[in-house]
Amino acid sequence: METNLEYLKTVAATFTEEIAVAKLDTPAKSEEFRIRFLGQRRGVIPKLFKTIPHLPKQDRRSAGLLLNALRKEAQTVLEHAIEQYRVKSTDTCDIDLTLPGRRSQWAGSRHPITLALAKITDIFEHMGFAIAEGPEIEDDWHNFTALNFPADHPARDMQDTLFIEEPGEGRAGAMMRTHTSPVQIRTMMAGDPPFRLIAPGRVFRNEAITYKSYCLFHQVEGLVVDEGVTMADLKHTLTGFARAFFGEEVKMRFRPSFFPFTEPSGEVDIWWDLPDHPDGGRWMEILGSGMVHPNVLDAVGIDSERYTGYAFGMGIERPAMLRYGIDDIRIFYENDVRFLAQF
Ligand code: DAH
Repeated sequence: METNLEYLKTVAATFTEEIAVAKLDTPAKSEEFRIRFLGQRRGVIPKLFKTIPHLPKQDRRSAGLLLNALRKEAQTVLEHAIEQYRVKSTDTCDIDLTLPGRRSQWAGSRHPITLALAKITDIFEHMGFAIAEGPEIEDDWHNFTALNFPADHPARDMQDTLFIEEPGEGRAGAMMRTHTSPVQIRTMMAGDPPFRLIAPGRVFRNEAITYKSYCLFHQVEGLVVDEGVTMADLKHTLTGFARAFFGEEVKMRFRPSFFPFTEPSGEVDIWWDLPDHPDGGRWMEILGSGMVHPNVLDAVGIDSERYTGYAFGMGIERPAMLRYGIDDIRIFYENDVRFLAQF
């Protein structure tokens, strides 16, 4: 190739000027710039380097210095440009940083029933209660008879039982337990007083499924048996529980009620503020309770002259609905991830 140093100097000056005014404000423009000036195969600067061997010997060194400076200039401008939009990448680069991230792992969360149950057991554990458990498949004696439900008495209709076999001659009457109260019986049969325990678990009823009732739900049973246990102890414990679970300001009331296994019996209601309600809210029943009926103590072989006790049983779903502002019980059992992920 015909060339000389003067020609190289002129061309280099032109390119220097071009490089100085290049506007490399997008990645595409920078890439174009790189190919034009520095590209290995067609870049103008590498091409100029290739002319050096054709120059007169005494000019080759100057030409080398000149072209090195030119290449350095192009590289500096390019690096500077790349640095710039790395910094302001939010508005100039192709990546949309406002898009949600791709998750490679999904974290699970605790079911609200599990959370409420954990909170309730925690409160009672702090009050010195032990945790007991019993089977979900029960028999007629533990679920009803020992709890003072008379045979063929309408009291058994209080709970719509899902029987596995009808009780009768030689048949125990296997059933899905309708409440956690049979755990009282099993625990008292297995040991001697004093008892101070709660028994959380699932219970089953053949009920119409609506926003407020389901065929499966959870209860926590409570039982305290000792010498000298009174109704005042019961009220004290339940008041302490309600304050710990719903807050110090909770409004609650005891209302007389009936259960075959307690005498006297009472229910506890919690005031639920509802701004849209004509009365500003309403009472919600959260548990049943009472003094353990002497017939129950007799059935499990505990001396009812010497010992007294109280018992209570609460549903978990209702307090959980109050606590988390859930208005339909069915959603607990639908396993909808959009619901579950909120806890
Ligand atoms: N077992 C009752 C129910 O399921 C609730 C209950 C009421 C439990 C009073 C108790 C109690 O221990 O004393 O409706």
